[in-house]
Amino acid sequence: MASSRIGFLGAGKMASALALGFLRSGCVTADRLIASDTQPAARAAFSAGTGARVTASNQEVIDFADTLILAVKPNQVGSVLNELRPSWLPERHLLISIAGGITLDRLQSLAPGVRVIRVMPNTPALVGAGASGYSLGACTTEGDGELAQKLLSSVGIALKVPESLLDAVTGLSGSGPAYVFLMIEALADGGVAAGLPRDIAQQLAAQTLLGSAQMVLATGQHPGALKDAVCSPGGTTIEGIHELERGGVRAALISAVRASAEKSRKLGQS
Ligand SMILES: NC(=O)c1ccc[n+]([C@@H]2O[C@H](COP(=O)([O-])OP(=O)(O)OC[C@H]3O[C@@H](n4cnc5c(N)ncnc54)[C@H](OP(=O)(O)O)[C@@H]3O)[C@@H](O)[C@H]2O)c1
Repeated sequence: MASSRIGFLGAGKMASALALGFLRSGCVTADRLIASDTQPAARAAFSAGTGARVTASNQEVIDFADTLILAVKPNQVGSVLNELRPSWLPERHLLISIAGGITLDRLQSLAPGVRVIRVMPNTPALVGAGASGYSLGACTTEGDGELAQKLLSSVGIALKVPESLLDAVTGLSGSGPAYVFLMIEALADGGVAAGLPRDIAQQLAAQTLLGSAQMVLATGQHPGALKDAVCSPGGTTIEGIHELERGGVRAALISAVRASAEKSRKLGQS
């Protein structure tokens, strides 16, 4: 694993976030990392952030690296993999795709014989607090799975799931940061309405979500029990909870995850 050379096909936002995590965690050193991108600005940003080699040539990446991370937009996957089709060495190369909605079957048909892994990461990987779900292709080895787990864990948590559940992962953790940003904005609006200056309200709102999430992960307790513990009889918090229930927040969040998962499933079929 330590000797694996890693290449990014596409050097945009997610590629940069992952590469920085890999470097910080010591999974790879900059001299064993390379990235290609059609955009000079993306190459410059990746190089400035990581100190790694960058190129406009996808061929150079596949020649250099053993583990290829496919980090272009979903509609660019076909052209990148078709371009590289003659260059794959199935005994050498592992392909890890983070492209949303591109199935293992499709990856396998575009890169015949290659070991493939499909990942759904999320943007908090940018700050080392991502949540990824991943699925292993049929030809992968135990070592490939361990490598994916180690790389993805360097930017947050990584959970292996059957591919049929990746749409649900997309609906929850893939799209989830947007739901949480909306919640932080709304909580801050509430703070402003109650008299707080905006900057103070936003810091309090964001830290409250962060701290509460950390309590769930650290204690392993059911969130309902943690909620009950802060609702004293006749107190202020249960008044707020009543308003949330009246507003249908619980049902709205369930519906948001289901709608996003369903959209992901449809996109995968198109
Ligand atoms: N951002 C997220 O929240 C998120 C979450 C989960 C999964 N993902 C997945 O991660 C992937 C990358 O997302 P991103 O947000 O990092 O996108 P991004 O910032 O647009 O990065 C993709 C980069 O690849 C470049 N590119 C296009 N065609 C190429 C080619 N033939 N060879 C090499 N590079 C090429 C793009 O250039 P152009 O701008 O010229 O196209 C762009 O600079 C997507 O498939 C997305 O579904 C993203």
